[in-house]
Amino acid sequence: TWTNVPAGPPDPILGLQADQDQRKINLGVGAYRDGDGKPYVLNSVKKAEEILRASNPDKEYLPITGLPEFTKNATKLAYGVDSAPFKANAIASTQSISGTGALRIGGAFLGRFYPHSKVIYLPVPSWGNHTPIFRDSGLEVRGYRYFDKKTVGLDFEGLKEDLQKAPERSIVLLHACAHNPTGVDPTRAQWKEISDIVKEKKLFPFFDMAYQGFASGLTDRDAFAVRLFVSEGHQIALAQSFAKNMGLYGERAGAFSLTSADTEEKSRVESQLKIVIRPMYSNPPLHGARIANTILSRPELYAEWEAEVKGMADRIISMRERLYNELTKTHKTPGEWGHIKSQIGMFSFTGLTAPQTKSLAERAHIYMTADGRISMAGLNGNNIDYFAESVSRSVKG
Ligand code: LMR
Repeated sequence: TWTNVPAGPPDPILGLQADQDQRKINLGVGAYRDGDGKPYVLNSVKKAEEILRASNPDKEYLPITGLPEFTKNATKLAYGVDSAPFKANAIASTQSISGTGALRIGGAFLGRFYPHSKVIYLPVPSWGNHTPIFRDSGLEVRGYRYFDKKTVGLDFEGLKEDLQKAPERSIVLLHACAHNPTGVDPTRAQWKEISDIVKEKKLFPFFDMAYQGFASGLTDRDAFAVRLFVSEGHQIALAQSFAKNMGLYGERAGAFSLTSADTEEKSRVESQLKIVIRPMYSNPPLHGARIANTILSRPELYAEWEAEVKGMADRIISMRERLYNELTKTHKTPGEWGHIKSQIGMFSFTGLTAPQTKSLAERAHIYMTADGRISMAGLNGNNIDYFAESVSRSVKG
């Protein structure tokens, strides 16, 4: 029966096979590692789990849109208590299977109900999963310029030109902070200009905020773009994930939301979100949402969590500094490496070529995505010297 099924390629991020060599360094997937290279369970998460265990919770089904307190607290975290739609109870929201699920619900909802367009513009490059998510949601995916290889920075002129040229009312996907894979974010002034173009062209902004807190260490600061757009009067869609900022990767805790005109419109939108979700997976998992909600709703746990997010962001920043020094001062690697320090968030877009990444895997047991993206969080005091030395050797040829 399945003789006509061709073998598919492995996933460019999750399909990376790291070997068992002692020296192996896996910088492929964006998952935080502590200073010893180990997965990290936050203390605030452990405490939340103790609180939950003590409350002897049941295992009943959640509603289709998930744990209501969780979605309320998740939207509060993103939009801020002072945002107009939050105060007006006009944010339609649902729990999701982390960020991917949120994007997929959003894609499906827009595909079904957004009356003006089926076209979504993604930055070039974007997270590798964005294209299949939106394509499989029935949208037509196009790109807008984002990254300038020459400056290893934002191609702001190209971005503006492409958004100006996009058909009116197209959907545009924006990474709220810590752009994946480039680590290059617009400045606040540039966000304001993007907001003006989006308004002028009546584009529909869909924010993916998978790294709130990971860019600067401060969740409020990282929500700048989302809050700016909302305060400028845009209606937005938003995908949130608690995988990175709470380290809840496998718990799949996330949220999707849409700002709407008022509570009545919000209820209609939510009723349709339910109809999108029910045939996909009925209702979301309990545990991750309970953990996140316990942290978000208890001031002392919230404070501890924020400090831990800052701790993760700071460790990554210190690795950037150290990698830069190793590459330039210790190993005198040819080329400009300032971007290692200036890029933001979990990733660095190193500029290494596909042949270089291949040879690093084969010769040095160092794994990264073929586009040269490394997860900075995979570097630590024990492996960074070997990494820098190997990169330097591969650049020198
Ligand atoms: C990544 O970009 O590495 C992460 O977002 C994990 C994933 O699912 O791709």
